[in-house]
Amino acid sequence: MKFALNVPMIFIVFFFLFQSSHSSNFISKSCKEASKINPPLSYDFCVAALEETSSNLQPPPTTLEDLVGISVQLAKSNGTNVLSIISKLLKDKSFDQYTKGCLQSCSDFYLQSLKFLDDAIVAFKSKNFSQAADILSYATTQCVMCDDSFEERKTKSPLKTENQVYWELDIISLTFVNMLRQHRKA
Ligand SMILES: *[C@@H]1O[C@H](CO)[C@@H](O)[C@H](O)[C@H]1NC(C)=O
Ligand SMILES: *[C@@H]1O[C@H](CO)[C@@H](O)[C@H](O)[C@H]1NC(C)=O
Repeated sequence: MKFALNVPMIFIVFFFLFQSSHSSNFISKSCKEASKINPPLSYDFCVAALEETSSNLQPPPTTLEDLVGISVQLAKSNGTNVLSIISKLLKDKSFDQYTKGCLQSCSDFYLQSLKFLDDAIVAFKSKNFSQAADILSYATTQCVMCDDSFEERKTKSPLKTENQVYWELDIISLTFVNMLRQHRKA
């Protein structure tokens, strides 16, 4: 009886071990390729961001399409997060007028960027990968514009880290879409 119970248990444990190592091999392989194609993209960041999100996905990601979907969703939830950080900062009375103005622009840039992410999902779902890549690069530009608005006056940006993380998540999505396009041609 004991034996009969344990065999399926062992099978289940091995099955999940295999599944999760399989999916993280796929993530690390894809992130390695992505960071080679697009050097500003950090391999470690890519793996950490995707593994954390996909660890509770069933079934785990096994295709580049899956990874595009996950990374765009990650960028979306992160960008939404940044928007709420900005609206909190806007209520902070310690910032000068110039910084407030930049924060207000950044709020608009992020709204626009999130809209682009939605449009990119539509293009991606209709399998128009070149259009999806174009739109994702517009989304990326928006957070660069937010950064630039502070840099123009050498003001320290209160959104430096947030911009960096969001930018990197956008770049991951964009690079995966470009990898899909290349694999398709090959
Ligand atoms: C993809 O989208 C672009 C821009 O809207 C369009 O010009 C092109 O024809 C589309 N390609 C396909 C394969 O649908
Ligand atoms: C998402 O956004 C928050 C706030 O900017 C940040 O602290 C967090 O590390 C980000 N990470 C990911 C990968 O979601």
